[in-house]
Parts: sequence; C-alpha cells; structure tokens
Amino acid sequence: MDPTRQFTDRLGVTVDSKSSYLLVAVLLVAGTCALAVPIISFIRVLFSLFILPGKSLSSYGPRGSWALITGASDGIGKEFALSLAAKGYSLLLVSRTQSKLDSLASDISTKYGPKISVKTLAMDFGQNKDSDYAALRKLIDGLDVSILINNVGQSHSIPVPFVETPADEMNNIITINCMATLKVTQTVAPGMISRKRGLILTMASTGGFFPTPLLATYSGSKAFLQQWSTALASELEPHGVHVQCVQSHLVTTAMSKIRKPSALVPNPRQFVRSVLGKLGRSGGAQNVAFTSAPYWSHGLMIWFLSRFIGERAPIVVKINRSMHEDIRKRALRKAARDAKKQ
Ligand SMILES: NC(=O)c1ccc[n+]([C@@H]2O[C@H](COP(=O)([O-])OP(=O)(O)OC[C@H]3O[C@@H](n4cnc5c(N)ncnc54)[C@H](OP(=O)(O)O)[C@@H]3O)[C@@H](O)[C@H]2O)c1
Repeated sequence: MDPTRQFTDRLGVTVDSKSSYLLVAVLLVAGTCALAVPIISFIRVLFSLFILPGKSLSSYGPRGSWALITGASDGIGKEFALSLAAKGYSLLLVSRTQSKLDSLASDISTKYGPKISVKTLAMDFGQNKDSDYAALRKLIDGLDVSILINNVGQSHSIPVPFVETPADEMNNIITINCMATLKVTQTVAPGMISRKRGLILTMASTGGFFPTPLLATYSGSKAFLQQWSTALASELEPHGVHVQCVQSHLVTTAMSKIRKPSALVPNPRQFVRSVLGKLGRSGGAQNVAFTSAPYWSHGLMIWFLSRFIGERAPIVVKINRSMHEDIRKRALRKAARDAKKQ
C-alpha cells in the first residue's frame, strides 16, 4: 500500500495515512502513560505502606543517645516516649503539666530501670517565655540529642468560623504549633549538625494538607509546618540530618475526642508504630519531598485524594466544610445539653 496515499475522513478532513499511523501511535502511547502512571504510583504506595521497611532508628543516632519529645505527656507524644524508651533511647520529655510528666517518667523508670535516663521539663509553649527556652537549652546542654519529635500541637476546641475564633485560641494555635516548633528546632538542630547525624520528625495533619474550613487557623498552622519542614529538610540533608514531616489523619487522643479506634482512626500505639517503622519512606505522600503518610489508611486516603482530585480542589474544600459544619452543630448541641445538666 502506498503510505503517502491520502484519504478523506467522514468530516471531510484529508489525512495522509502516514500521519494517521503517527496519530494512532501517539494516542496509544499517551493512553498507556495515562493508565500506567497512576498504576505505578499505586504500586509504589502499596510497597511503601505494606512491604518495604523504614530506615533503622540507630542510623540517626546510637541507642543510649537522647530523644527530645514535645507534648510528651499525652496522646501521640506519650506513645513516642514509650516506644523510643523501648528501643533504648534516653528521653527528654517536654510538655505543660509536670505531674503528668512525672508519672510517665516514673512508669518508664519502673519498666526499664537505670538503662533509660529520663529528664523532664514543664513549660507552656503558649506563653512563649524566654526563661522557658533558656531552661530547655540548659536541659540539653552537653547531651547527644539524636532525635527530635516536634509533636506538641493545639487545635480549636470545636470547629468555629474564623471570624468568631477567640483571640486567645488563635494566638495559642500559632504560638504552640508554629513558633514553639521553630524555636525548639533551632535549639536542638545545631548539635545534630555538628555531630553530622540526627532525625527531626514534625507532626503535621491532614487538617493542613487539605484546607479545612472552620479549623482555618489550625489548618494554616499545619500547612506552615509542612512547608517549613520540607524546606528545612533540604537545608539539613547535606549535614547528615534527616528531617521528615509526618502527615496524619485522625488518631484516638484527647485532641480528636475520638475514643474508639477504627480502620481510619488508629490508636496512638498503632500510629506511632507506623511512623517509626517507616522512617525515610513516603507512604501515601508520594509526591511531597521529605514527607511521610505512614499509617496505611491515612496514606491511601492522602494518595487517592491528591492524585485523582487534588488536595486543594474545590470539591475537597466543599466536602470538608460541610463535614466540619456538621461537627460544629453536634458540638454546640452537646454543649447546650451539658449546660442544661448543670
Ligand atoms: N489526634 C489526632 O487526631 C491528630 C491528627 C493529626 C495530627 N495530630 C497532631 O499530633 C500532635 C499530637 O496530638 P495529640 O492528639 O496526641 O494531642 P493531645 O492528646 O491533646 O496531647 C497534646 C500534648 O501536648 C501537650 N501540650 C498541649 N498544649 C501545650 C502547651 N501549651 N505547652 C506545652 N505542652 C502542651 C499536652 O500536655 P498536657 O498533657 O500537659 O496538656 C500533651 O502532652 C499534634 O501536633 C496534633 O496536631 C493529631
């Protein structure tokens, strides 16, 4: 057949058969890529979440070196403390309530004896006091702090329109979530840089990954942490310090007010096990540098929404708003019932 022969299609467009073969080939390649890219990405997510192990903790610092955990007396932070003690790290526990820190320190000492040293510091990050940060510098002075868990965080007491957000709640969220994380990291990171090793994990949230109406200030603070952590990770990588932002959806803690674990809402132990078991892996956060969504259901949710819909897509924000409007209505009804009982 003469490859240069021309024919006229039904629309009356004249195409030579060479061009039509080329067009079909281009469409085939484009179609294959359009199908293959998400399939390959999904396989990578499955491997990352379920099969491949993370880096070992000891590659960031030897057992016996120190791990500093903020917001260590409850929820996810407390679980980090217990898990890191079990792995042989000494602990610097920082949070607001001394009695809760004392009780955790005593539980750890009873379980592990003198093998694991524990120091505590009670400070209210919301106060942003220079004297507290001076005490923190003193606490870590001369210690080999190889792990920093930037865990402390505060959210809104209930979902609330931004314009009605109480000023003290707004200030606390920004001061605790953002300012404290920056200041603690500036205190600890220079030592890691000088030792050319270390691990800095920062707790972000899907509340910040997906813009979350009625939690606007919290959402913005966690988006800030994501951006800051990724930028910092790139700065510290040449110094041998690994910085990783940890993306999480709900976990059963006082903050989420959810008690019963489910497939989408792990308890702190399940969640922290996934974080420490997948260090250096991205889980469901495939295209965000130096970031991990290590818990399987959170990872799959983040991967699916960001790949097929877009984390800031109008539909995602709309659904998120109606979800949080419902939560607010329920919270207000509960508050009214409680007020009646008193
Ligand atoms: N739980 C979730 O569903 C979820 C989801 C995504 C991300 N996260 C993030 O994970 C992190 C931990 O959350 P969580 O649910 O474990 O919280 P949590 O159960 O409420 O525990 C918060 C911890 O932070 C301490 N803390 C709170 N305010 C403080 C302050 N002003 N100064 C010093 N310490 C303070 C608390 O100390 P006291 O015990 O003394 O009050 C407690 O140890 C947060 O950054 C949060 O944003 C949580």
